[in-house]
Amino acid sequence: MTSPLLSLSGVSRHFGALKAVDDVSLDVPAGARHALIGPNGAGKSTLFKLITGSMPVTAGTLTLAGQDLTGRSEPQRARRGISQTLQHSSLFLSQTVEDNVLLAAQRRHGSRHSLLPRRQAAARDRVGGLLVDVGLEDRAGTPVASLSHGERRQLEVAVALACEPQLLLLDEPAAGMSPAESGRLVRLLRSLPASVTLVIVEHDLDVVFALADAVTVLHLGRVLLTGTPDEVRASPAVQEAYLGTGRENLFLDGPSSTAGTPGTSVRTEVV
Ligand SMILES: Nc1ncnc2c1ncn2[C@@H]1O[C@H](COP(=O)(O)OP(=O)(O)OP(=O)(O)O)[C@@H](O)[C@H]1O
Ligand SMILES: [Mg+2]
Repeated sequence: MTSPLLSLSGVSRHFGALKAVDDVSLDVPAGARHALIGPNGAGKSTLFKLITGSMPVTAGTLTLAGQDLTGRSEPQRARRGISQTLQHSSLFLSQTVEDNVLLAAQRRHGSRHSLLPRRQAAARDRVGGLLVDVGLEDRAGTPVASLSHGERRQLEVAVALACEPQLLLLDEPAAGMSPAESGRLVRLLRSLPASVTLVIVEHDLDVVFALADAVTVLHLGRVLLTGTPDEVRASPAVQEAYLGTGRENLFLDGPSSTAGTPGTSVRTEVV
């Protein structure tokens, strides 16, 4: 068996007495489309921070392509190909759409030669391609502050892709998107090459089931289950973690027949 791209072993993050992430072990193969779901406060965003290195682990180890990441800084991990979109936006609001993506691409490649006209033209071409991919080609010159919420989320994906990640972590990329926008997002994510491994946190289960080949359910910081989308949908423990007993079955309807037409938001269901 080939070794996984990302491997977590006994990873924990405690805040005082709160075990936000508690002894999580997880293998993500290269090329996977892996979803991480769970009720509000389950520890999903914290786990992402432990993977990117923006927060240190309390215990456990992480490896990327077999190399130990645990003691590595966030920039070192970014250079090894970990890129993310955040649950809360981190865009430069006064800059244009194009410049936000260009800055990310320059951070990836270093800005030493970026003033050479030939390099600049090539970088702008690449950025233009990314903006087409996320559907923002008509907004290249628009300041980010003027974008709709959904457009900003699309831009965040372009910014993350500009870093040419081998591991792309997406934290609720469809949050606040219209059905048309999240449908486009799903199509974009499905079109990414297998050289980009995806881990996606998403409350919109239509997006999850349209994309994921494996799903991990976190509950109270712990892994409740990792399985195929069908296994997760059928799991009574997952039903209970989301809704408690005696509530309607969240997954009974299964995924939407039209991939990427979201409608089922767990966030509003969680008690
Ligand atoms: N810096 C922090 N200090 C103290 N507690 C924290 C900190 N960050 C997160 N927590 C707590 O850790 C738990 C997990 O939070 P986290 O943001 O990872 O959840 P989540 O699964 O991403 O939730 P949501 O679906 O609402 O985004 C929560 O109880 C949260 O209040
Ligand atoms: Mg979160």
